[in-house]
Amino acid sequence: MNKDHFIIEGLGGKKTLLGEIKVNGAKNAVLPLMTASIVFDEKGISLSNVPDIEDTHRMNELLEEIGVSCKLDEKGNAKIQQNGKIKSSLDGEIAKRFRASVILTGPILARTGKVIFPHPGGCVIGARPIDLFIEGFKKMGAKVSVEGKNYEIKTKGKTLKGARIFFKQQSVTATETFVIAALLAKGETVLENCAMEPEITSLCEFLISCGAKIDGLNSTTLTIKGGEILSQTDKTFEVIPDRIEAGSFLILGALCAKDLKITNCQPLHLSSVINNLRDAGTNIETGENFIHIKNAKKSFLNSFNVKTHEYPGFPTDLQAPIVVLLTQASGEGTVFETIFEGRLNFTEDLVKMGATIQMWNAHKILVKGPTPLKGKELQSPDIRAGLAFIIAGIVAEGESKIHNAYYVDRGYESIEKRLQKIGVNIKRVKQ
Ligand code: EPU
Repeated sequence: MNKDHFIIEGLGGKKTLLGEIKVNGAKNAVLPLMTASIVFDEKGISLSNVPDIEDTHRMNELLEEIGVSCKLDEKGNAKIQQNGKIKSSLDGEIAKRFRASVILTGPILARTGKVIFPHPGGCVIGARPIDLFIEGFKKMGAKVSVEGKNYEIKTKGKTLKGARIFFKQQSVTATETFVIAALLAKGETVLENCAMEPEITSLCEFLISCGAKIDGLNSTTLTIKGGEILSQTDKTFEVIPDRIEAGSFLILGALCAKDLKITNCQPLHLSSVINNLRDAGTNIETGENFIHIKNAKKSFLNSFNVKTHEYPGFPTDLQAPIVVLLTQASGEGTVFETIFEGRLNFTEDLVKMGATIQMWNAHKILVKGPTPLKGKELQSPDIRAGLAFIIAGIVAEGESKIHNAYYVDRGYESIEKRLQKIGVNIKRVKQ
């Protein structure tokens, strides 16, 4: 884990950023795709537009450790192959570093009849239980026990059996895990109250293109017919653009850009954010795969209320950047974080920078703006709040030092280099 930090010389509220910034492949799309390789034949899977971020490297290490070969190149291509000899036990140290490791449980259990894993780690943004996973595996006929610090899950026969599973809470990784697990189960699986994030739809589209039988895409009920090991055709699958990265650049643009074009993105995945920003007064033009922001010198933003919600609602992963934006908007705005109870804690640091934010409870804050921000020394608490601190540092007057660059690197590739190109004065200090 690197100990790098970022130094930013803020713009003091000026809107000067200029040029184009390209969005990379989505972290939360590529990770489940990589885990799906386990239910494929020995030809493996080929992906393109794979982001060079810490989380893909961690998934790479976890897969290698259980016997899956992963080759990632500098051009963003990945070839992932297994030879039928997969270890059923996940390395605790790596799995504890990121939540997406939990998705591996489904494919490993489906393929080998057994999986042993620790409670998954990841950002400290709330309790992040795994009850949906445990209950789902039991419904599919598996036996679950806790051995020391590990969960041990075994199928009763050789395979999982199809089941009807109602998720009492919509969950992105649980939906992905059970879609993949059901592919090798005996019979039909019906998943109800599924999450509908674009990353899930993209995963299903990939699986269908490789022979999977999945019905109900873009709805909350998915029906999967269990069958054979999958096989990818010769066509490489392109990872969808990262809507959270695009949304973060959009928010940065609304705050600090003179003229910024965000390319290689899918604006349709960001409707809730784009609508909020347009209502607040940002001049946004969209095309099929770009978002263009032009701010007049004296343009200003009006405040609004935000409630995070499962897709297509306002994404919790953009809650932190939007709080930064609200500190610069005129009026009062409430932010209701409905998904994770620990995800508003970072706002204490924005207050230190000069923001007026009242914490009503773990899920709700009131932001009064506009308030000028002053550069500060901050510790990134997680991926998304880390990027929000970078945005706050760019808006602020003076210098900001943002520690724990590693968290930002988990989700954003070479962020400082890409921001420098549009006029941000940011540098990485290596430790
Ligand atoms: N939940 C349960 N039980 C479970 C699983 C989840 O109660 O067994 C609850 C969670 O506590 C939360 C809610 O369900 O309150 C929804 O969480 P979800 O399971 O959807 O989150 P996740 O799958 O762990 C993914 C993303 C997160 C993103 C959330 C919400 C990945 C790898 N992670 O997490 O991304 O915030 O969905 O959209 O896809 C990030 O990228 O920084 C990140 C945290």
